[in-house]
Order: sequence, then structure tokens, then C-alpha cells
Amino acid sequence: MVMSKVVLSYSGGLDTTVCIPLLREKYGFEEVITVTVDIGQPRSDIELAEKRGKKYADRHYTVDAREDYVKALFQLIKANGNYEGYVLGTALARPVIAEKIVDIARKENAEVIAHGCTGKGNDQLRFENVFRQYGFKVIAPMREMNLTREWEIDYAQKHGIEVPVTKEKPYSIDENLWSRSIEGGRLEDPSYIPPEDVFEWTSISDEVSDGQEIVEIGFEKGVPVSLNGEELDGLELIDRLNRLAGKYGIGRTDMIEDRVLGFKARENYEHPAATVLITAHRDLERLVLSRRELKFKKFVEEEWAELVYYGLTNDPLFDSLNAFIDKTQERVTGWVKLRLLKGSVMPVARDSPYSLYREELVSFDKFGIDQKYAEGFSVFHGIQGRIYRMLKK
Ligand code: ARG
Repeated sequence: MVMSKVVLSYSGGLDTTVCIPLLREKYGFEEVITVTVDIGQPRSDIELAEKRGKKYADRHYTVDAREDYVKALFQLIKANGNYEGYVLGTALARPVIAEKIVDIARKENAEVIAHGCTGKGNDQLRFENVFRQYGFKVIAPMREMNLTREWEIDYAQKHGIEVPVTKEKPYSIDENLWSRSIEGGRLEDPSYIPPEDVFEWTSISDEVSDGQEIVEIGFEKGVPVSLNGEELDGLELIDRLNRLAGKYGIGRTDMIEDRVLGFKARENYEHPAATVLITAHRDLERLVLSRRELKFKKFVEEEWAELVYYGLTNDPLFDSLNAFIDKTQERVTGWVKLRLLKGSVMPVARDSPYSLYREELVSFDKFGIDQKYAEGFSVFHGIQGRIYRMLKK
């Protein structure tokens, strides 16, 4: 049979676990192979997925994609990546995951890839763009079958699948190295204030978020390379900053987001390291990039973020934007010190060998250029406006 094997992108949760018997029974596959891709989600999630994949599927793979993901995140930092204020943690991870799933599908000689995304979100589009690019046929049982949670639990039990009786929080969580999102349940009502217990990375309770500290981030060519003078690889740096800045309640976003399909969604995110790193990176750019570069780069950043959000990073435009971004980042080397204080992060000092700042030009106390020359500039400045106002009188 041609379609005897299917590779399933597997998180270990109820939806994707239910997909395993469904792919056998409803879709007629003889072999279901699960793949869990590590992009820095909690260790326990990966271990649970591995345990369940091995138990319920014919074969299971766990693939470590953290290095690939960090590489993509470095590019995101260079691009100050955000879509409508969302730091793109889920969006940027999807092509990284999809590429790893494709590797396994090829190795297994499978022709079909399945995933557990619904038909309402963005992830289906992001995953499938990659799967289809490599010529795979795609199956999305959740999208096709419109299953309710009750049906899934019932079906799981009939197939000998344990449904963990966790203290049920009715939220859908997506978590990786860069961000944690909390959706669903009462949060779907935008007029409802999220209770504190939906948050795990950030704390705004007084005992922990009180106080303050200064952190120093070192950058080389737009990429963060050190924390408080200690050189760290990206994984370690992001992980440490998440914990450090999370204590101060930094990096929460509660927003109305425009999904690709057109509807608006209410989203809650936590992303302490992302907030600190992008704040620092932007600040350093302001020191070293020219006014015109900064202005033009904003448009590039917006386009860049939209391509990532839409899962269209295979578009040739993405390569062109990255070429521009990389060129600007050649000079984004230096350090920024930031104050972490009560949910906020603010740059308080910075320096770079490529600084375009000249103290003697701007200083009240020093004389770099004779101020008298400014008079000539001032004579011409605003000349068209003055003529226009005169004519109107
Ligand atoms: N709204 C965000 C996005 O589209 C995060 C979605 C997270 N949820 C999920 N089920 N993947 O990127």
C-alpha cells in the first residue's frame, strides 16, 4: 500500500495522542510514527511526549532543534521582530519544527505527514507550507473532524490511552525557549482580566517583583553574546534572562491579535528575555545606526515580522530583507545596561566602538563646532512653510 506510513508531529497532548489511533482507524495507516521536536519547551513535556509516543505509536523520535531555533531567534533579535506587539515565539518555531519533521519523514520513506492543528489558527498554514514545499501529502485530523474534548477523552479511553487527570486548567498553552502563550477558556472573553495563575514565567506579586537590578547585555553584530560580562551561548543566555527578568514581572503581553485567516484573537503571552533583549538591541541600534537607516529599517522590520507570522519565510522577499538587516547589523556591537524594575525594563547606559554619537557636538559644556554656523541653517529652515503662511494672509 502506498499510504501505509504516516509521520505525526507530536506534542504528547490529548489532541495529538488521539490522532494516533485515528490515523490507523479512520485513515487506514499501518504505521504511525511520532516526532517531538525540542525547541526549549519544558523538559517534562518532552519526556511525557517521548513516553507516550513510544507507548502508543509504532515508533517515536525526539529531535533536538534548539540550536536551529536559537539561530532563528538571533535573526529575530536583529530584526527587532514583533507582529502587532507579539514576539513571534510560536510563529518562528513552526518552520524549525516542520523542517525536522520533514527530515524524519524522508528518513522513514513516508509520503504523508500529519499534524494536530485546528482549522482556526495560524499554525496549520505555517506547518503545511513547509510540508508541501518538500512534496508531502498533509493530513490534519483536528481540522477535518471538529472534535470536542469529551469525544476525544472517550475515544482515548476506548483505545487504552491514559488521559492524565491533571487539575484541569481549561487553557491551551504553547511554550518554548522564547515565549509562553495562554489561550482559551475564559480568556477568550477580551473583557475578562486573566487570573494570576495563568502565568508561570512572570510574577507581579510584590515580594518578588519589588526591588531592582541593572543587567548588562553585550552584542556582537546584532546578536547577544554576554550577560553581565559573562559570555554565554544563546540558549543559556535566553534561559537565564527569562528567569531573571521574569522575577520582576517583565514581558507580559495581553493583546488583540489579527490572525492570518482574518479573525481577531485575544492572546496572553509571557516573554521576559525577549522583552529585555529587544529593548537592549533597539537601544544599541539607536546609538550606531544613522537616522535614515533607523527610519528605513522600521519598514523592513514590519515586513519581516509579517512574513514570519504568516509562515511565509520561504518567500524570496525574506532573504532580501535579511540581507539588508545583516548589513545594518555589522556595526551593532557594544553593550547596553538596563534597569529591571517592577514589570519594566529601561535602558540606562550604552556604548559601542561604532557609535555615531559625538559628545562635543551636542554638549552644553564643550565646543566641537562653532554654534554661529547654525544661524545660516536656520535662515533656510522652514522656508516653504513661511512662504505658504504668508500667501494665506
Ligand atoms: N497567536 C500566536 C501565533 O499564532 C500563538 C499561538 C499559540 N497557540 C497555539 N496553539 N499554537 O503565533
